[in-house]
Amino acid sequence: MRLAFVGPPGVGKGTQAKLLAESRGMPHISTGDILREAVKRESPIGIEAKGFIEKGAFVPDGVMIGIIRERFEKGDCREGYILDGFPRTIPQAEALEIFLDGIALPLECVYVFDCPDDFIVERITGRRTCSNSGCQAIFHVRFQPPKVEGVCDKCGEALEQRSDDSPGPVQQRLEKYHATTERIIPFYEERGLVRRLDGAGTTGEVFAQVRSAGASL
Ligand code: AP5
Ligand code: MG
Repeated sequence: MRLAFVGPPGVGKGTQAKLLAESRGMPHISTGDILREAVKRESPIGIEAKGFIEKGAFVPDGVMIGIIRERFEKGDCREGYILDGFPRTIPQAEALEIFLDGIALPLECVYVFDCPDDFIVERITGRRTCSNSGCQAIFHVRFQPPKVEGVCDKCGEALEQRSDDSPGPVQQRLEKYHATTERIIPFYEERGLVRRLDGAGTTGEVFAQVRSAGASL
């Protein structure tokens, strides 16, 4: 399965990608997770990306394409992969297509998660993320609470709120999604790759759709 997950901030892309990656033993490539790890390490990319992320703006396309190319060099994507949060712009989609064709691993399907903006705000404001950049497990104070408040079930590190999950950056991220990222959906529709999923249900309900969409791949 060679997949890309597209959807508004907080719709549940990361939650669903982690579930599918665990059940199918395939790599989950989240550009947001890669950037947050780089910010914590204070690497050159992290230093450049920090200001964009905190404002809810996009990191420049050239940086993002470089990150993806480097990630594929790991060599673990031959049996499949899940791209989460990449591509988000037409130039990213075009560069990705050329790159993946070049390594004979083109996308097989693009899952588009739809959800009203009202749901998004509740999901994002209640999200808690593991502060261990190698884990970054996702919780929610109401919908997916950890066993012990404030502590990651998976690795035991403290949970935190993402710096871009405050109202200003969330609004900006939603606007960027509607104004820019949604434009990549017709790009993939022209190629017959789009599957639309209803992201408004419970995590289990959405995962049932993810599994059935993948059954034919
Ligand atoms: P990124 O980390 O990709 O953020 P995003 O796209 O805004 O999406 P989120 O991670 O916020 O949400 P999600 O859909 O993964 O939802 P989650 O599963 O966590 O990117 C962050 C930033 O990095 C960008 O703003 C940008 O600056 C930069 N960046 C990244 N990629 C880039 C690119 N390609 N180009 C340029 N810049 C880039 O779920 C959210 C919450 O809801 C959780 O608490 C979860 O427990 C809960 N939840 C999930 N599903 C459900 C459900 N069905 N019911 C109830 N609650 C649910
Ligand atoms: Mg995410």
